[in-house]
Amino acid sequence: MNILLTGGAGYIGSHIAVALTDAGHRISIVDNFVNSVPEAIVRVEKITGKNIVLHKTDVTDREDLTRILHDEKPDCVIHCAGLKSVGESVKKPLKYYRNNINTTLSLLESMKETGIERLVFSSSATVYGEDNIPPFTETMPKGRCANPYGWTKWMQEQIIEDVVKQLKISTVILRYFNPTGAHKSGLIGEEPNGLPNNLMPYILQVADGRREHLTVFGDDYNTPDGTCRRDYIHVMDLAEAHLKAAEYVEKNKGLDVFNIGRGIPCSVLELVKAFEEASEQTIKYEIGSRRDGDVQDIWADTSKAEEVLGWQVHRGINEMCQDAWNWQKKNPAGYAK
Ligand code: NAD
Ligand code: UD1
Repeated sequence: MNILLTGGAGYIGSHIAVALTDAGHRISIVDNFVNSVPEAIVRVEKITGKNIVLHKTDVTDREDLTRILHDEKPDCVIHCAGLKSVGESVKKPLKYYRNNINTTLSLLESMKETGIERLVFSSSATVYGEDNIPPFTETMPKGRCANPYGWTKWMQEQIIEDVVKQLKISTVILRYFNPTGAHKSGLIGEEPNGLPNNLMPYILQVADGRREHLTVFGDDYNTPDGTCRRDYIHVMDLAEAHLKAAEYVEKNKGLDVFNIGRGIPCSVLELVKAFEEASEQTIKYEIGSRRDGDVQDIWADTSKAEEVLGWQVHRGINEMCQDAWNWQKKNPAGYAK
């Protein structure tokens, strides 16, 4: 297939580009590098040994995007472009609503104009309401989002649902749980901007000496060790779900939604311990107070993705930690040379 990937220079997009290229698909990327660097695509080319077509364009620029879709004539678009920092979205909600909603409006309008009929969208477990009891199924209540970022994801889902029905665009929405890890090569990985908010990037910076210690946000939850539990998934398993989703929209009409996680809860302290074992580093940590808005337990019911997409997870927590640490050791300054 000829697949156009928006946000393809980003953390998840670059891993999707590898998985799809390795499976024999032709990839073109649209990215404006607002949160990434062209070097990521050079690294994807190095891993795969294939050239990746790059369009440095803002997805919200509808005219430019329409021209690109017209020239590329993709069989399928995978839409990953978006801003993703929860904290920044609280400080700059307009920036988040404008960018994230407009990427989707612009893309759908351009797809309509050029007659492109297949779409895969990057959504998030953040769309599930706080009151759900895990494991989360796709049909559970959604939309009581805790921050503007979460609302942009849920609103994009709503827009997509209404538009693709009317335009008859075959669509898969993937709700990611907690992507982590990196490609085995250590050539591509996650490059957090400033102080990391998320757990694994923070652990990595404690391991490489940049941060003194990790603060564990609360150990008084009603869980076996008192810390919150999440559903960490290796970014290459997540990338492979996009391969299955692209194949699925090629053969199936309509709209479908899938959770993409491992379906196995892992607590903060379990992840710290697993990282220590995988990296042979000691992670200093202190117990702090709860983080505002944190939910005790989030993990997925992944049976639908397994049964309908035929997708399976192949990598566990140990491999996530090893691969994340390998990336960090080889790229202490991220993609900067
Ligand atoms: P990322 O920031 O690394 O990648 C996003 C990419 O989109 C970047 O390369 C950025 O430059 C690009 N981009 C943003 N706005 C753009 C625009 N207007 N035009 C062109 N390019 C634009 O983030 P990521 O972690 O790779 O996330 C990818 C997608 O997955 C996002 O939509 C995010 O909301 C979603 N998601 C991420 C996570 C996660 O934990 N990383 C979890 C759930 C969902
Ligand atoms: C984050 C996002 C959420 C997104 C999800 C999946 C935030 C605030 N939320 O939440 O929108 O849907 O990822 O990508 O970014 N922790 C610590 N110390 C730290 C960092 C985290 O103890 O320094 C704990 C948190 O309290 C949480 C767990 O580690 O219990 C995981 O945190 P994080 O990586 O931020 O993921 P989510 O909470 O799932």
